Amino acid sequence: MKKIIKNGTIVTAADTYQGEILIEDGKITQIGSNLSAIGAEVIDAKGCFVFPGGIDPHTHLDMPFGGTVTKDDFESGTIAAAFGGTTTVIDFCLTNKGEPLKNSIQTWHAKSKEKAVIDYGFHLMISEINEDVLGELPQVINEEGITSFKVFMAYKNVFQADDETLFKTLISAKEHGALVMVHAENGDVIDFLTKKALDEGNTAPIYHALTRPPELEGEATGRAANFTGLANSQLYVVHVSCADAVEQIAKARSKGFDVWGETCPQYLVLDQSYLEKPNFEGAKYVWSPPLREKWNQDVLWNALKSGQLQTIGSDQCSFDFKGQKDLGRDDFTKIPNGGPIIEDRLSVLFSEGVKKGRISLNQFVDITSTRSAKLFGLFPKKGTIAVGADADLVIFDPNIERVISAETHHMAVDYNAFEGMKITGEPVSVLSRGEFVVRDKQFVGKPGSGQYLKRAKYNKNALVNQNETLSI
Ligand code: URP
Ligand code: ZN
Ligand code: ZN
Repeated sequence: MKKIIKNGTIVTAADTYQGEILIEDGKITQIGSNLSAIGAEVIDAKGCFVFPGGIDPHTHLDMPFGGTVTKDDFESGTIAAAFGGTTTVIDFCLTNKGEPLKNSIQTWHAKSKEKAVIDYGFHLMISEINEDVLGELPQVINEEGITSFKVFMAYKNVFQADDETLFKTLISAKEHGALVMVHAENGDVIDFLTKKALDEGNTAPIYHALTRPPELEGEATGRAANFTGLANSQLYVVHVSCADAVEQIAKARSKGFDVWGETCPQYLVLDQSYLEKPNFEGAKYVWSPPLREKWNQDVLWNALKSGQLQTIGSDQCSFDFKGQKDLGRDDFTKIPNGGPIIEDRLSVLFSEGVKKGRISLNQFVDITSTRSAKLFGLFPKKGTIAVGADADLVIFDPNIERVISAETHHMAVDYNAFEGMKITGEPVSVLSRGEFVVRDKQFVGKPGSGQYLKRAKYNKNALVNQNETLSI
């Protein structure tokens, strides 16, 4: 059935204007005023913004990690994402050394196919580069449409890859048109510092932060950026948490290197002192990289504003406090790393960013949606409001005030990292390819309705020009 959205303010990364949107067969077919509503369901967006659906470029759903498995899977995770205004997630597909990449990709398809309520794609972890891996990459890119690879520079003896692997991945990515993503922390030095802390009897959550100092994130970020320059390749640094890393990204970009950076809501509003909460509550705030001293938040906001950082990911990697985070009650290295953020990504950025004047409304759309679409080969099908684009749309009331709480969130975990935070602005209705997933704050979607997205190759020009063509 046709739908028409009336009376809303349409916001893209470039423009803000009053207009109506006609939706047919899951796509936007007209944008204008006084459009004919004959045969169409009318959706009244009075007093609301209409945004392109959010794109979360960084999620870990149903992922084994830290001796357990993330609590949110592709069903609960994408339902929560939709409530928060996200209509596409790109999840990290883990691989195992010595096993064909295609096995891991099949595993991730099996986890997601019947469950996702919004569209999704995969990034692929690269932990080794050998003839077998090199032989599989063209198929991964051309047939699976997986055009971004993730290399971990930390988590020694678990995920960590060496410098040779990172450098060879950068070279292969350049050759095949893929974007390399890095978790940038110096895993070797962290390994030394964590063992030393435990030897000295320092087992509490705060030692997670103290053994992963910002210098080690800055060092790894700079190393990866320099390798990128040397390989004339392209790099995306995930979950940037501190000034040390921002400086390295800015330095690389000033040299003309193709280096991009993502931060996450938690680094913008929470800080290292949260790890010192009593009764082991600090474990709820264990991320890698860790939360930093508060002054870093201004640096991150300014980097988003000035364009030195370009995107915001949730790094959704949720574990219950009871039964999962408490695996590390006597040893901070056993606390599963990560937190539940997928649902509040847009709301926190809108409330703390747009409402407080730190970023503009159009920057908000760029950071939460458009830039990720361009970087990860989804633009202009996703990430904008244009004739021919998928009708992934968020009707967002900018004036609703609410308090974030685990009691009302839709993630499967027993706590919310932003518990008690007062925010302004909330998605009211969310459409994925023209169908309501959330309608008037009620879930009306269907597990399995989300489609797997084969993504286009990395295209630097897409990041500069908006000249891709859409067909209807
Ligand atoms: O603590 C985090 N960030 N957990 C998720 C895994 C990762 O490193 O991205
Ligand atoms: Zn990471
Ligand atoms: Zn992550």
